[in-house]
Amino acid sequence: MLSFLQRLLGNNNAKEIKKMRAIADHINEIEPNYVKLSDANLVAKTDEFKRRLQKGETLDDILPEAFAVVREASKRVLGMRHFDVQLIGGICLHRGNIAEMRTGEGKTLVATLPVYLNALTGNGVHVVTVNDYLATRDSEQMGRLYNFLGLSTGLIVANLDYNQRKEAYACDITYGTNNEFGFDYLRDNMVSDVSQMVQRPLNYAIVDEVDSILIDEARTPLIISGPGQRSTDNYYKLAKIVPHLVKDEDYTIDEKQKTIAPTDSGIAKVEKMLGVENLYDAENIELNHLLGASLRAYAMMHRDTDYVVKDGEVVIVDEFTGRLMFGRRYSDGLHQAIELKKA
Ligand SMILES: Nc1ncnc2c1ncn2[C@@H]1O[C@H](COP(=O)(O)OP(=O)(O)OP(=O)(O)O)[C@@H](O)[C@H]1O
Ligand SMILES: [Mg+2]
Repeated sequence: MLSFLQRLLGNNNAKEIKKMRAIADHINEIEPNYVKLSDANLVAKTDEFKRRLQKGETLDDILPEAFAVVREASKRVLGMRHFDVQLIGGICLHRGNIAEMRTGEGKTLVATLPVYLNALTGNGVHVVTVNDYLATRDSEQMGRLYNFLGLSTGLIVANLDYNQRKEAYACDITYGTNNEFGFDYLRDNMVSDVSQMVQRPLNYAIVDEVDSILIDEARTPLIISGPGQRSTDNYYKLAKIVPHLVKDEDYTIDEKQKTIAPTDSGIAKVEKMLGVENLYDAENIELNHLLGASLRAYAMMHRDTDYVVKDGEVVIVDEFTGRLMFGRRYSDGLHQAIELKKA
């Protein structure tokens, strides 16, 4: 059975690669047309491609020509001619697949093919790497190629200010680390006006060392905390109030979605007990948020199921393995709310 499956998958893969090899062959065939172009005429291809895209051609239509242009430009600017397997790797990445290539096989150069192609839309391309050093190195080295072809390159590393970030994201191609891209995305979700966002709508990204970024690094969540310290006072007030609320009358629980929400009558009760006019006023944002956390801690988090109390500390129980997660804390005020619940 296993070997049958392997054969099936193997054949599929082989078929796909055969198709991609045919495209690579085609790129080789048209290479002489580009070898004879002057630098100026080679560079002019970028504008030609952009125009053709606007007229309705697709990225797949122009892929062979665009790849041939990148290869020729790379020969002239970097002194490297993409190998055929690098062309196939580039096609694979353009289609949104994962290409596995061994160390030293030239993944940095492979990326230039789909990066150039997808940047032609003008909607921005992100190249995600694991650290600042690689992001800086690759953006400088490959940036020479993109700039020769008339595309701009930006770099996102730590300690950039708002204007520098905005500028880097406005470039055709933006290199950066997964952490920086992730945190910029989170911060963009906290602004009160779209003009304060640094990223443009997300379009196309290539992830280097994808196993490390999407599996290993993904185990550590990026957590962003709002400005200012929440007053512990409000936690205490709400911890006293929520036990007075009645399920299905003052709040409802969606077990499937694991969400909890106060009803109108619940809100009215809480407003009265807190002595505030309107919980939805901008000035009561924090109280409102803490009400959510307190309610959740009170009605949905169960001692000895979701957490245990050990030596006076709230310890999270892993939902899948049942293991105690020492040192881990719930985010968003939930942990503090649970601590008060046991008190
Ligand atoms: N087509 C090519 N012609 C000549 N040299 C090349 C070509 N492609 C890549 N190289 C060279 O091979 C070396 C390794 O490339 P690169 O760093 O991109 O490898 P990698 O696959 O990313 O490896 P790692 O897994 O270590 O990150 C570089 O020095 C690069 O200049
Ligand atoms: Mg590499």
